[in-house]
Amino acid sequence: TAGNKPAEKKELIVGTEPSFAPFEFPDKKSGEITGFDMELIKAMGKKAGFAKVTVKGMGFDALIPALDAGNIDVAIAGMSITDARKQKVNFTDPYYESGLATLVRKDNTTIKSLNDLKGKTIAVQLGTTGAEAAGKIEGATVKTFDTSDTACLELKNGGADAVISDLPVLQYFLKQGGGEYAKMVGEPTKGDMYGIATAKKNKDLADKLNKALADLKKSGEYQKIYDKWFK
Ligand code: ARG
Repeated sequence: TAGNKPAEKKELIVGTEPSFAPFEFPDKKSGEITGFDMELIKAMGKKAGFAKVTVKGMGFDALIPALDAGNIDVAIAGMSITDARKQKVNFTDPYYESGLATLVRKDNTTIKSLNDLKGKTIAVQLGTTGAEAAGKIEGATVKTFDTSDTACLELKNGGADAVISDLPVLQYFLKQGGGEYAKMVGEPTKGDMYGIATAKKNKDLADKLNKALADLKKSGEYQKIYDKWFK
């Protein structure tokens, strides 16, 4: 199991929630979880000396409990570094800057920004910063879904007026065909930093991962992976 192996163990067990393209999602052909986060953590694991990196998919809200229980060594899932989460886990240095954005149906002419969401029905993914933001909007009905995909489907089906989620994920979604029925409105937020989470008691691993991330940035490998998914 992940938690109590010695520091020199050879396998790194990674948890993620794979409905978050282009960060983590099942490859159409192989079904294997692929994406920016997956390629990054595999490269980092290798750099840090792990012989094997194994990925486990689970609910987004199950990731931090799984770290605590020692069922996974790291969580990488487009996870924003927040104060609340920092109480529970260690984060690596930020590896990606994101922000929240709003999606509505293409034919919607009344919702032009976050300010127009009062009293509306908003679809979000459980346990995310998007869910938290939606919860703060006056009079809004928040519909919570286990995956990011099903939240977007709810918008398509007319069960919600808007989706609040991460900008790069919504942009990718629009490009991959979502643009047929949806569009983005308003200004996305800035400065939302993604980090890789490890258990509090596993400080050693956090240090190793930071070193690996810095090395990959220096060598240009990080940039290569970035360009593959975002250019
Ligand atoms: N960045 C947001 C958060 O930390 C959303 C992450 C959702 N990630 C996922 N793999 N579904 O709450």
